[in-house]
Amino acid sequence: MSNYHIKHLEEYYQVYRKSVRNPENFWEEIAEEHFVWRKRWNNVLRWDFTKPEVTWYEGAQLNITENCIDRHLRTRGDKTAILFEPNDPNEQAEHISYQQLYERVNQFANVLKEQGIAKGDRVCIYLPMIPELAISVLACARIGAIHSVVFAGFSSTALATRINDSDCKMVITADGSFRGPKTIDLKSIVDEGLEECPCVETVLVAKRTHATIPMKEGRDKWLQPLLDSADTQCEPEIMNAEDPLFILYTSGSTGKPKGMVHTNAGYMVYTAFTFKNAFQYREDDVYWCTADIGWITGHSYIVYGPLANGATTILFEGVPNYPDWGRFWEVVEKHKVNQFYTAPTAIRALAKENLDFVEKYNLSSLKVLGTVGEPINDEAWHWYDSNIGKKKCPIIDTWWQTETGGIMISPIPYATPTKPTYATLPFPGIQPALMDENGQEIKGNQVDGRLCIKFPWPSMARTIWGNHERYRDTYFSAYKNMYFTGDGALRDEVGYYRITGRVDDVIIVSGHNLGTAPIEDSINEHPAVAESAIVGFPHDIKGNALYGYVILKETGESRDHTNLRIEINQIITEHIGPIAKLDKIQFTRGLPKTRSGKIMRRILRKIAAKDTSNLGDTSTLLNPEVVQDIIDNAL
Ligand code: WTA
Repeated sequence: MSNYHIKHLEEYYQVYRKSVRNPENFWEEIAEEHFVWRKRWNNVLRWDFTKPEVTWYEGAQLNITENCIDRHLRTRGDKTAILFEPNDPNEQAEHISYQQLYERVNQFANVLKEQGIAKGDRVCIYLPMIPELAISVLACARIGAIHSVVFAGFSSTALATRINDSDCKMVITADGSFRGPKTIDLKSIVDEGLEECPCVETVLVAKRTHATIPMKEGRDKWLQPLLDSADTQCEPEIMNAEDPLFILYTSGSTGKPKGMVHTNAGYMVYTAFTFKNAFQYREDDVYWCTADIGWITGHSYIVYGPLANGATTILFEGVPNYPDWGRFWEVVEKHKVNQFYTAPTAIRALAKENLDFVEKYNLSSLKVLGTVGEPINDEAWHWYDSNIGKKKCPIIDTWWQTETGGIMISPIPYATPTKPTYATLPFPGIQPALMDENGQEIKGNQVDGRLCIKFPWPSMARTIWGNHERYRDTYFSAYKNMYFTGDGALRDEVGYYRITGRVDDVIIVSGHNLGTAPIEDSINEHPAVAESAIVGFPHDIKGNALYGYVILKETGESRDHTNLRIEINQIITEHIGPIAKLDKIQFTRGLPKTRSGKIMRRILRKIAAKDTSNLGDTSTLLNPEVVQDIIDNAL
């Protein structure tokens, strides 16, 4: 990709223009460089957003692990591929070289095969941030099994829903996990979830906490002995460009989570290209993304993107505040981190703490600072810039989604002048559009609207597992011939984009996407609850927090509200996970509804944000009298 390592703004504009004028030629040139193809494509791109159907590099054959591992062995065999930094700073970091990664991935791949996993089978991975997580992801890719990583903070019910949705044959998990000072009994969550999952035949269990745990005869197997006796050679399965690589679930505004399907060739090309340019990675750099591999950020920018570039990528098991709030900066100093990528929520939490935690450490290795997952506010941006980057490191505010697979709008460091709170310019090949309420594109600058993308890019999700219709309805039906992102954005006078937030019923809490419907469904399972509505409200660390309006059944009205609140949050924790707990729960006698019975969330959002001076048009409400009552009792 030497031709496409962008180093200044003029070059960006040149490359960008080319990518728009002749996209096929552009993406063909990028694919030709540095990747190992077993067979060349006959067609760079075919697309039809009405079906929707998109194919990139049709006819090509490859294996992504050959690109992420094998091809580096000759020149980078001894270089650290994965640098594992454990939860406990007193435990030694582990350097896994490309050669060692090759052997460990192959052993794991051979174990998967021995356990009956074949190309196309789905494997659920529910692991903490330990090397086995990255290795099992790559082992699946090596043999063409489709991995479905479920973030290990999700509850047993959420895990079971995801396992069943894609019929996973196997689950890979651990005896337990460390999280700051806590130990979590991961295996019992799996056991509970699997009571509802007849499709799972085998559970492989990695040892981490060495807790004594029950192993189910015939189903559960300790991983290590199997690895120890497995061969370190495993021929990569030759995959077609459009064969699925993985499924990753994301919340929708309604219904169950959506299993976004990503395919091999396009995802590889795009994550490699964006990693190189967004982080300006140089050969000996040490790169650290603090996300969990359970999210798309971890898939694309801890595992695949960095490894495709032969980078050293840190895999961090810990949390920002253990043993204290200096932990991130201690790791930066210790491993001389060059690129650091985290979430605005983490920055806001760190900024609240004493600056001594930062100043104790030498951060002079840093060259690029990234953020992702939610809008970054002005204050957090400046704190990050002054105290971490010492005003010398460009901040890349990267906007993208599980569905987009890779970074879509972001400054290119040292090329694009940054502007606080702006994700700035689209990556080469990305053609954003802002749309108005009538479905028309808004041209020109200094405008705002709903953010769409009007041309395909290689790493876009191809479908929702088992539900192509939902894929079409969610992303391709709001605007003709456009991919609709669900976000609002504005474009400033020079064409920079600023993402303003979701325009649908997805709420981003601490950078995690949460759909209102599944949370409401869980609350409604409480025997005392008749109905509920969830909205987000501004929170100074989490970005948004959840506010629940709950109507109790007559039988429940006399119940103690404090206990009810605890019980409601318990149900949410069981069904989804602690990340979806409500900060505030207001019991109310009614919810504002339109004549067609739809809850008017706009009003509830304003009340939750304590912004009731102008509630807008309430004339279409069936029951306007409840509004004042809700305001009077707001929390
Ligand atoms: C939001 C994470 C503002 C946005 C990679 C998007 C952002 C959703 C940014 C996707 C950003 C992500 N500025 N908002 N830089 N990055 N978002 O699927 O609302 O977990 O639609 O992917 O996060 O979240 P997801």
